[in-house]
Amino acid sequence: MKMMRAAVGLWVLSAVICVGRGHHHLGHGNDQTVQDTVGDGSANSVSLVNEANKEFSFQLYRKLAADADSQGKNIFFSPASVSVALAALSVGAQGETHRQLFSGLGFNSSLLTQTDVDQVFQTLLQSTNNTSQEDASEGTAVFVDDDFKSKPEFLQTLKQSYFADGFNVDFAKATESADTINKYVEEKTNGKIDKLVKDLDPNTVMYLISYIYYKGKWETPFDPKLTKQDDFNVDENTKVSVDMMNMKDHFHIYHDHDLNTTVLQLPFNSSYSMLLMLPDVMATLENAICPNHVTKWLKAMVIPRRHDVYIPKFSIKTSYNLNDVLAVMGMTDMFGVRANLRGISEEPGLKVSEVVHKATLDVDEAGAEAAAATVIKILLGSSRFPPPVPVLKFNRPFMVIITERNTEKILFLGKIINPTI
Ligand SMILES: *[C@@H]1O[C@H](CO)[C@@H](O)[C@H](O)[C@H]1NC(C)=O
Ligand SMILES: *[C@@H]1O[C@H](CO)[C@@H](O)[C@H](O)[C@H]1NC(C)=O
Ligand SMILES: *[C@@H]1O[C@H](CO)[C@@H](O)[C@H](O)[C@H]1NC(C)=O
Ligand SMILES: *[C@@H]1O[C@H](CO)[C@@H](O)[C@H](O)[C@H]1NC(C)=O
Ligand SMILES: *[C@@H]1O[C@H](CO)[C@@H](O)[C@H](O)[C@H]1NC(C)=O
Repeated sequence: MKMMRAAVGLWVLSAVICVGRGHHHLGHGNDQTVQDTVGDGSANSVSLVNEANKEFSFQLYRKLAADADSQGKNIFFSPASVSVALAALSVGAQGETHRQLFSGLGFNSSLLTQTDVDQVFQTLLQSTNNTSQEDASEGTAVFVDDDFKSKPEFLQTLKQSYFADGFNVDFAKATESADTINKYVEEKTNGKIDKLVKDLDPNTVMYLISYIYYKGKWETPFDPKLTKQDDFNVDENTKVSVDMMNMKDHFHIYHDHDLNTTVLQLPFNSSYSMLLMLPDVMATLENAICPNHVTKWLKAMVIPRRHDVYIPKFSIKTSYNLNDVLAVMGMTDMFGVRANLRGISEEPGLKVSEVVHKATLDVDEAGAEAAAATVIKILLGSSRFPPPVPVLKFNRPFMVIITERNTEKILFLGKIINPTI
């Protein structure tokens, strides 16, 4: 029986809620200072891991978008949270299993060791909690069966570098241990992700969990009085009715001619922003988008210009089993008999049973108590862009990114095909 009970469940959870309540405050676009996020990890390791994480975001996006299960569905996930979970797992992986995880995450093993990676994640996890105060929290947890002997070094590294909360549970008591895990997750995601675990796999000896929660208020809220029912064109033949929010104001907008895509930056009242990308042809954007685009767009959006912007109000939930997608990205051994997780335990037959990711996104307009501050803006060259006020309407499929403006860390990434499903 003991031999059978040898699977690690890897659950990656994200919850995000964006509430458009806030005060009026512009001028963030000029705030280009790059924060020094170097803690224990050296500057070089931090930038190597940062770059790898950004690349990984879009690689994973493309694999998810191409997956048969994703067709006709919205896509929304937290690449940051998936990276953390896999990096934490790689602490306990050895040999080829470790090599696959490292290379799948985009880490170059001739430039980075596992210890470097651990130190960088320590810095990154801390700075998510620090930079945004109550807005964002990110962390990990490990639930270990009472009878399972895991290596103390593994748990030690998870605690120290990944801030893992550690729990001993009796997985034989299925209901009780499911409750323990569900309660933990519900609390960490402010109730956004509940009833995560229904049927505990009796073979599971460990649950490794990574969660991320983000709640942002728009720097400039939408006026709920202007929200009207409107059509959203899912495709040429399908229209759905949505609550369309509207705001006429100065916005950071960039038209990327290479991708035939218009990008809108909606800043939160923090160092985070939501980028909304409206392409002429979704495939053109999806297939090409990479970290350099995000850098280019943020750089180019210096001068806000007056636009009439329409964005649907929506609330979506997603759930993925990432086993196949990660296998396609080269991380295959961890799921099978070739798995080498001897850094977690010497018990034979230890493997990863499943990697699950859940995310939610809620976007709405303004709260009633939104205050407006008066801002005097001096617009350079505005006379060269005379009225009428151009309209930008997100009334057909678009992509969305939630990012930190200084580090360009990608907290969330997705594609909204139909805001009503
Ligand atoms: C926006 O952020 C500032 C600085 O953190 C804070 O003082 C202010 O209360 C925030 N405004 C809202 C509406 O949350
Ligand atoms: C890893 O880094 C080394 C040294 O800079 C470089 O030669 C090699 O091409 C890199 N490997 C990959 C896969 O990028
Ligand atoms: C971040 O904040 C959450 C919630 O307060 C906490 O549980 C978690 O341990 C923190 N993570 C880090 C890295 O400090
Ligand atoms: C985060 O805040 C803690 C406590 O205030 C501090 O010790 C730590 O250095 C900060 N980390 C980063 C990366 O800013
Ligand atoms: C962008 O649109 C123009 C005009 O419709 C077209 O000629 C061009 O091929 C498009 N570019 C891409 C990358 O799709």
